[in-house]
Amino acid sequence: MKKYQGLSILIVSLFISTVSAQRKPISARVDSLMKLMTLEEKIGQINQYSGREATGPVTRKQTYQLNDIRSGKVGSMLNVHGVKNTREVQAAALQSRLKIPLLFGMDIIHGYKTIFPIPLAEAASWDLDAIRLSAHIAAREAAAAGLHWTFAPMVDIGRDPRWGRVMEGAGEDVFLGSAIAKARVYGFQGDRLGGTDAVMACAKHFAAYGAVAAGRDYNDVDMSERLLWDTYLPPFKAAADAGVATFMNSFSTLNGIPATGNSDLQRHILKGKWNYKGFVVSDWGSIGEMVEWGYASDSSDAALKAITAGCDMDMQSEAYKRHLARLIKEGKADVKLLDDAVRRVLYKKFELGLFDDPYRFCNESREQETLSNPQHKLIARDIARKSIVLLKNEEKVLPVSAKVQNIAVIGPLVKSKRDLEGSWIPRSDTSLVVSLFEGIKGKIAPGSNLMYAKGCSIADTSQADFQEAINLAKQADVIIMALGESYSMSGEAKSRTDIHIPGQQEALFEAIEATGKPVVVVLMAGRPLIFNKVARKASAIVYAWWLGAEAGNAIAGVLFGDYNPSGKLPVTFPRSIGQIPISYTQYNTGKPVKSPDDIKYKSAYIDSPNSPQYAFGHGLSYTKFSYSGLKLSKSSISANETSELSFTLTNTGEIAGEEVAQLYLQDPVASVVRPLKELKDFRKVSLKPGESKVVRFTITKDYLSFFNRHLEWVAEPGNFKLMIGAASDDIKLETALTLVQ
Ligand code: NOJ
Repeated sequence: MKKYQGLSILIVSLFISTVSAQRKPISARVDSLMKLMTLEEKIGQINQYSGREATGPVTRKQTYQLNDIRSGKVGSMLNVHGVKNTREVQAAALQSRLKIPLLFGMDIIHGYKTIFPIPLAEAASWDLDAIRLSAHIAAREAAAAGLHWTFAPMVDIGRDPRWGRVMEGAGEDVFLGSAIAKARVYGFQGDRLGGTDAVMACAKHFAAYGAVAAGRDYNDVDMSERLLWDTYLPPFKAAADAGVATFMNSFSTLNGIPATGNSDLQRHILKGKWNYKGFVVSDWGSIGEMVEWGYASDSSDAALKAITAGCDMDMQSEAYKRHLARLIKEGKADVKLLDDAVRRVLYKKFELGLFDDPYRFCNESREQETLSNPQHKLIARDIARKSIVLLKNEEKVLPVSAKVQNIAVIGPLVKSKRDLEGSWIPRSDTSLVVSLFEGIKGKIAPGSNLMYAKGCSIADTSQADFQEAINLAKQADVIIMALGESYSMSGEAKSRTDIHIPGQQEALFEAIEATGKPVVVVLMAGRPLIFNKVARKASAIVYAWWLGAEAGNAIAGVLFGDYNPSGKLPVTFPRSIGQIPISYTQYNTGKPVKSPDDIKYKSAYIDSPNSPQYAFGHGLSYTKFSYSGLKLSKSSISANETSELSFTLTNTGEIAGEEVAQLYLQDPVASVVRPLKELKDFRKVSLKPGESKVVRFTITKDYLSFFNRHLEWVAEPGNFKLMIGAASDDIKLETALTLVQ
């Protein structure tokens, strides 16, 4: 026995000493390593534990985890960060027989130390370079703090604002969502995996989690195959095409099968059709949750179903660790499934360079330097201001002149800091956050009088403090109100049945508005809120989401005209909860409403217009843009031809600005019914006053294609309507294109 032990130690040390020197292809290095691994060691590689800062229910002690790490029973940790901590835990892994380094993962959703706007807010910028840069800075900071992997981007399409996780995604649209998915993957991962300023990204939650029934988190999803392919899968495909290193499955079911145990999704689509080579991690405990769902009889059955379905790594449920070896020995699970999962995980460890140096992400001075880089704050401010959407601006009440004498700032979010960071941040540090109050203070002229009253708390039931605010409002020339949600009202497990502005805030607005003074309302939230009274009566509305550490400066910059707002809504804002789920991609129906006065026997509500409060793509500027001269180089093309669509965009106002020109398409007659409008492309164009630019799109067959009834991606010959708009409900130009056989 001793002799064999000695021999195996020799082989292992030979392997370890040569593995870094070898320059064999990674797959060969993975194979060599796997030959040395016991069944238990292999299973260890696909077992992931959380550190102390849990992002879900925690069940085990740290000492237990460290012992497991030392004996090679853990392949990855989440929620351990900071060079000191990751170094310490990595050292435990290097005491294991094969010294296979751990992967450290964490939810770096919108920044590590520098907090950027929440992902939904950034999507409102429609600025792919800025979004990519934001992800890159987040990755750079995370990598400097010892992390290898972020559980982002969330690429779930969100059309139900009751679902708290809409804040984490890019909104409702397939095209925009796919473009942003790519930008974020490139941003997080850099040019290639292995750079010490980049981390592995993770496309989540595969798939269709955004469509949970009734907007209730963790609920079931029931969906047609076509809706899945047409709308919910494309951003995942885009992430896979961009080389995303990992996928995460979902807490939800899809048509009766939990996503975690769903082989149609993971084996057939992802690893089959899409030939995906990265690995799939479960969501937190989602393997074990298949028992609660009633899809597995116990944790062992859940382990068998998950590994069979293609879930490679077990986050937190320990189902693989406890049962997989026995399942394999009993011949119930095929060892090839395990080998495939382990191979995928090890491949990433090699790609990250961890076998060359397990501590290559553990450099204290890099950590210090990166986390104190002053540039990051400026970049955060820039993307924050780009994410702001000006919803309304009557009689040009905005921008406010810095010289205005008396300004009243009112509302529960005026001085708030923590709420501006939003949910999903690794650690809150409000000393780094600029509140709206501080931002405004920094903008106004020295002699101006800045008055403040809170008026009420976010979720107040009382109006006791209204009077103080009203008195203040009466003395003001202009009133700025900051209303919205607290950071804990949107995010995971934060679904709401009522998405009106919480508490007494809208009543406070009405009381202030009754003074007859111009009221500018700044709304901060993680989701589209409903605020019909504000929409009707406020002089101006600025949607500021949760903009992160630089929120106050960014918002004040817009309010006082240092920055001309350019954001557009990435998601529809409903008038009522009854309209949800909602998106601009409506169908005509067989009984379309042609005039709002004629809704008898029409696809309408008898108590509300069909239209939303604010449409997808809506967003105003302090300048005006005109759209003219639409041309199509060919009005008729065959499948292998293209046609160039062009038009002229002019800034007809007096200040420089940026416009997001949107290209929509309709296929009016097709073998399956198509929506009235689908976004196919867009350009964000910057124009000086009086300046014109020609904007071009090359229309290819791909723009005209959709999934037919056999789920084939086809473009059917016939006529298409092409529309150019400033918003989905503000079409400026249109033309027709014919696809010939
Ligand atoms: C549960 C969430 O659904 C997922 O998005 C997250 O990455 C994990 N917890 C880990 O924190």
